[in-house]
Amino acid sequence: MRTSKLMSATLAGLLGLTAAAQANELVLYCSVQEEWCRLMAESFQRETGINVLMTRRSSGETYAQLKAEAGQPRGDVWWGGTGDPHLQAAQEGLTLEYRSPMLAELQDWAVQQAETSGFRTVGIYAGALGFGYNSTRVTENPPACWADLLDPRFDDDVQVANPNSSGTAYTLLATLVQLMGEDAAFDYLVKLDANVSQYTQSGGAPIRNAATGETAIGIVFMHDAVAQAVQGAPIVPVAPCEGTGYEIGSMSIIAGGPNPDSAKRFYDWALTPAAQALGAQANSFQVPSNKGTPVPPESPALDQIRLIDYDFATYGSSATRTRLLARWDAEIGSRR
Ligand code: F6P
Repeated sequence: MRTSKLMSATLAGLLGLTAAAQANELVLYCSVQEEWCRLMAESFQRETGINVLMTRRSSGETYAQLKAEAGQPRGDVWWGGTGDPHLQAAQEGLTLEYRSPMLAELQDWAVQQAETSGFRTVGIYAGALGFGYNSTRVTENPPACWADLLDPRFDDDVQVANPNSSGTAYTLLATLVQLMGEDAAFDYLVKLDANVSQYTQSGGAPIRNAATGETAIGIVFMHDAVAQAVQGAPIVPVAPCEGTGYEIGSMSIIAGGPNPDSAKRFYDWALTPAAQALGAQANSFQVPSNKGTPVPPESPALDQIRLIDYDFATYGSSATRTRLLARWDAEIGSRR
């Protein structure tokens, strides 16, 4: 009797300890640029005392990680990255349904993203796709349209990421398909391939490489081109003349993650104006999703850009994303 009482007390103690340890930790998968990821992790840790273990990976890579870990999820929250792979993860049940009390404060596009996913993801920022060029490398007739990037004078002087790893590059693929039709989009990508020097892993790398002059043009989200210009690089952001797509950067709670309470706490916090304002501090100029978060003056004005009516439900679906990436591998990636 005494032994069993002792045992249950020890067990309870152990369980209590485990619960306390769990409540005090958060495993964060982050898909924006490193500086912003670190600032989010440090700020949340400082405000709550919850120890944050953060890893930064591109959007497609993080989706693949969630899928690989589905049997034994290791992450709690996937914060940032383009919305399409978040929607795919939602459809595949890799992320948890959660209706944050903060939803009422968000822009319609952010709530729509939540609705499309059955509340398994939510919009945290928006940004238009485009490209940037280095004005010391391109001094005459700067490119203004998607069509201009096929000009032979840019041979080996365009960079874009691989759409398997990068959400930016998948947004390009889905945008071109919606602008031109699927076969014409793949014809365009084959021609573009003749000018592409490198398909990078991360979506932001091409514009960092354009900033140093390693390439003349980087196809990226316009806010990433602005970030280089703000830091003094000779980068000019361009909104392509034919029109362009955009992202709804998203956040999801990972289903079955080890620290569900910390996950919800982070999720609600990340949707507050104070947390969203950290973006601008980290040189990130997306449009924030909370109506109360000031839009950084440097952010490209989305209402001044010719945006397509991007079909997130279709291009974020498992069937379409999987099929388009397989076709990209067969017709573009295989050429390398
Ligand atoms: O942080 C910059 C950013 O462009 C985000 O706006 C976007 O969601 C993310 O990076 C995409 O990164 P990647 O293309 O590497 O998945």
